[in-house]
Amino acid sequence: MNNPIIMDHPLIQHKISLLRDKNTGSKEFRELVSEIAMLMVFEATRDLPLKEVEIETPVAIAKTKVISGSKLAFVPVLRAGLGMVDGVLKMVPAAKVGHIGVYRDPETKQAIEYYSKLPVDIAKRDVIIVDPMLATGVTAVDAIAKIKEKGVKNIKFMCIIAAPEGLEAVKKEHPDVQIYCAACDQCLDEHAYIVPGLGDAGDRIFGTK
Ligand code: URA
Repeated sequence: MNNPIIMDHPLIQHKISLLRDKNTGSKEFRELVSEIAMLMVFEATRDLPLKEVEIETPVAIAKTKVISGSKLAFVPVLRAGLGMVDGVLKMVPAAKVGHIGVYRDPETKQAIEYYSKLPVDIAKRDVIIVDPMLATGVTAVDAIAKIKEKGVKNIKFMCIIAAPEGLEAVKKEHPDVQIYCAACDQCLDEHAYIVPGLGDAGDRIFGTK
C-alpha cells in the first residue's frame, strides 16, 4: 500500500502556511493544529463502511445511511499528538482515545516508550494514530508496532508534515498502514528537525519554549 495520501485541500494548505510562520504564537498555533486535524480526519475516514437504514422524517420514511463496521479509536503520540485530539473528536465524537508516549533517544536513536494507556477493547477498533510531525519515523514505527501487538488490524497514521525519511521508514516496517499527511517536506537537519518544517510542534503547541 502505503504511498502517503497527501491532503492538498486549499484550506489545509493555507493553515499550514500559518503554522510554519515562526511569528505564529501558541494560542493560534494550537487552534490551527486542531482545525487541520479536523479537516484531515474528514479525508482519513472517507473509506468507513456505510449501511442502509430507514429513518422516519417528519414527512416520510427515508432510506438513508449510517456508519457501520468497527468503531474508531484515536491514539495521539505524546506529547504533540495531543494537539490534534480536539479536532478529530469534533468529527468523530464517539471515538475512544488511547495515549502512547514514546520518544527517540538522541544517543541510541532507539524508540523509548514511557507511557501507554489504550482502550480495553482496542483490538476490536480501527485505529488512527495522530502525531503532527513524521520526522525520522522511529517513534511512528514503534507506536504502530505497539498497537499491532494489541491485535489491531486496521491502523492509519495521520500527520501534518512528513519528512521523506519518516515516510520511508513507516512504509518499510508497516506497509499495511496508510499514511495521511498534508505536506511532505525536503529533509531532516542534523537534530532530526524537519526542514523547512515548523520547529518543535510540542513546544509550539504548549508554549514551552
Ligand atoms: N518533531 C517536531 O516537533 N518537529 C520536527 O521538525 C521533527 C520532529
